[in-house]
Amino acid sequence: MSLLDAATEIRERAYAPYSNFKVGAAIRATSGNVYQGCNVENVAYPEGTCAEAGAIAAMIAAGDSEIEEVVVIADSPLPVSPCGGCRQKLSEFGKGDVKVTMTTLEGNAQTMTLAELLPGVFTQAHMDNA
Ligand code: THU
Repeated sequence: MSLLDAATEIRERAYAPYSNFKVGAAIRATSGNVYQGCNVENVAYPEGTCAEAGAIAAMIAAGDSEIEEVVVIADSPLPVSPCGGCRQKLSEFGKGDVKVTMTTLEGNAQTMTLAELLPGVFTQAHMDNA
């Protein structure tokens, strides 16, 4: 299954009764394994989790920790953009040159690297005086 197919498939299982905005994410780890995630909302709105966070959790739970590529899909008029928090979360496990493809259901897609999505990412190096 392609990364796009994996993201499209898992999007259908999103739990998004509050925003009605279902998101699917798929990560290919450097091992070649693919991990899927969808957004899971909560009536206490800030407790909801993004699709990217779900895919990261699945990857870590399976024993992988290095991201090779990411696809995110939603029924959006524009290629769906990972939130700031997810850009930081993805950067924890992916190098700056990792490609993130953001797409609509219609195939309006944009690919950017993690470094482009989060310039100036906070890293362990920033804590070197601690
Ligand atoms: N959302 C994601 O899951 N990933 C994104 O990249 C953008 C936003 C979710 C969070 C929330 O459940 C809904 O979309 C609306 O913000």
